[in-house]
Amino acid sequence: MSHDGESDILLSAEEDVGQFFRSFHGRRMPALSETYPLPVDADEEKRQELHHRQIKFIFSGKNYMGPVKEALQFGEKRRILDLGTGKGYWAIDMADEYPRADVVGIDIAPIQPEYVPPNCQFEICNLDESTQLPYPEESFDLIHARSIHIGIQDYPGLVEEIGRLLKPGGLVLLIEPDLFPITAADSTGDLSRGWYKLWATFRTFLEHRPRRVDVTVPSRLGDILASSGFFEDIVVKQANVPVGFWPQDPTMLTIGQLQWMDYELLIPALQPFFLSSGMSAEDVAHIVQDAQHDLYYPNVPFLAHIHISYATKRRG
Ligand SMILES: C[S@@+](CC[C@H](N)C(=O)[O-])C[C@H]1O[C@@H](n2cnc3c(N)ncnc32)[C@H](O)[C@@H]1O
Repeated sequence: MSHDGESDILLSAEEDVGQFFRSFHGRRMPALSETYPLPVDADEEKRQELHHRQIKFIFSGKNYMGPVKEALQFGEKRRILDLGTGKGYWAIDMADEYPRADVVGIDIAPIQPEYVPPNCQFEICNLDESTQLPYPEESFDLIHARSIHIGIQDYPGLVEEIGRLLKPGGLVLLIEPDLFPITAADSTGDLSRGWYKLWATFRTFLEHRPRRVDVTVPSRLGDILASSGFFEDIVVKQANVPVGFWPQDPTMLTIGQLQWMDYELLIPALQPFFLSSGMSAEDVAHIVQDAQHDLYYPNVPFLAHIHISYATKRRG
């Protein structure tokens, strides 16, 4: 382990892999978090790969936006932390791109590959339970968290922890997809009703379960960074991402295809969460079928909205 000292918070994925998973309605769910609503199985790993590829297209082939190169300029050994790393696609890419930096990826599920670059390592940790992660303060130069807010109850608290862990002048990069769908026609009514209902149901259950997730976090990333008091030079960006096969521009078409494939996997992945939230199997089946129908036969172009924010930790 790369941190100082041992801790109960970090668990070893090598001991008993079974303890990290539970089976629910045919999907493999994470055992360590009661908050995170999605499976951590082969279909979900595929979805993460699509997501990773798509974000790279959005970032013009890169793994990041913002002054990452500046934050990782060499002198002393640089350290990068990826929160909610999933299958580890981003962490591995960064380890390849910055072979002289150490990259640590943490997640609740040990789904990362065995063979990774020598400067990349993974650790198991529930970000939702730890007020302090088991790393010394000011021990990272870059901290990245992408598409994890649905597994975090206290996102502002996590941002404060990022502030503690970053070195002065270090960079945080947050990326979160919005949970409010939009269409090119800005329709919220009859068109695509099944699509809107799926997302409204998802948001409702995320908000009202005993463990409450704030579904407005993606659109507030910049405010959350500012409120923490740790950061300066806060940049907020948004990407409107096409869903499906309608864009004319070849790059946008690729991005749209990747998002469509992502959603095709996401819709059934929500079933265990809806069932565990008290919805009947019949109602879940209807919601899923209606959303799938709208995805397969859209009567208006769909869009997804991705929020990106990066900032530098204050130096003084
Ligand atoms: C949608 S995936 C995104 C994975 C990766 N960040 C990416 O962008 O490809 C969300 C990941 O966050 C992890 N996660 C969710 N809540 C977590 C928590 N409380 N602590 C640690 N990891 C968490 C999940 O296990 C999952 O692997």
